[in-house]
Amino acid sequence: MSEKQEETRPVTPLVPGNESAGRPLVELTHVEKHFGDLHVLKDINLKVTKGEVLVVVGPSGSGKSTMCRTINRLETIDSGDIRIDGKPLPQEGKELASLRAEVGMVFQSFNLFANKTILENVTLAPIKVRHMDKKEAERLAMDLLDRVGVASQANKMPSQLSGGQQQRVAIARALAMRPKVMLFDEPTSALDPEMVNEVLDVMVELAHEGMTMICITHEMGFARKAADRIVFMADGQILEQNTPDEFFEHPQTDRAKDFLSKILTH
Ligand SMILES: Nc1ncnc2c1ncn2[C@@H]1O[C@H](COP(=O)(O)OP(=O)(O)OP(=O)(O)O)[C@@H](O)[C@H]1O
Ligand SMILES: [Mg+2]
Repeated sequence: MSEKQEETRPVTPLVPGNESAGRPLVELTHVEKHFGDLHVLKDINLKVTKGEVLVVVGPSGSGKSTMCRTINRLETIDSGDIRIDGKPLPQEGKELASLRAEVGMVFQSFNLFANKTILENVTLAPIKVRHMDKKEAERLAMDLLDRVGVASQANKMPSQLSGGQQQRVAIARALAMRPKVMLFDEPTSALDPEMVNEVLDVMVELAHEGMTMICITHEMGFARKAADRIVFMADGQILEQNTPDEFFEHPQTDRAKDFLSKILTH
């Protein structure tokens, strides 16, 4: 069966309304974090404005995933401040759940519910968390599955899909919560090479539609094509932030030069 998108485009906008224009959608101020003796985030200051696409790069162990995970509080922080759309991160309970709903996250492993169909994977959270009517949730889910090119797989189980298809379902599932920002932590690094582009294409389209995105990725082609800004981390610090052109052509620090010389020669 063809997975090509239909001629008539679905109507659901991928990106929620414009109520927060002008102020940072994500703001980290003086964020510090330790794992025991290991100082993993050191005075992290970062502002992401609405519609901005940030690509985070840096050597293994530099704190990229940890930083991302603090943004929806999958990790706590020792000190500092994190705000989503102007609101401080709640500690727990209902408010935390509703904040998490505003921050979509896609990981390296697809994390789909193995015992639920593709459609159920996408409708589950909108029904449970957003209290969406089942029919409406299914309409939204089919619309989003169509957007990412896997609508024809809706009634299959995750194990019947390729890795690239599963990852696109994971993206649709995150989008079904109408998040204000999407976090991607190496979403293509577990995929076979021929499936990388089908996932990156979905991410590029999201970026073009104005989704605010923070992406940890080693896909430098994507970074050059889609990023507004590259953030370079090393040893728990943000060492450089620049446009892709500036960062790739004129890295400022020795750490960044060294990092680039390693990844670009592969
Ligand atoms: N739950 C944890 N407990 C203890 N140490 C941790 C934990 N999670 C991460 N670390 C350590 O914190 C440091 C930063 O890890 P993190 O996963 O954020 O790095 P990363 O930049 O995402 O690396 P990679 O490119 O390999 O994914 C590493 O030294 C890691 O071993
Ligand atoms: Mg990581």
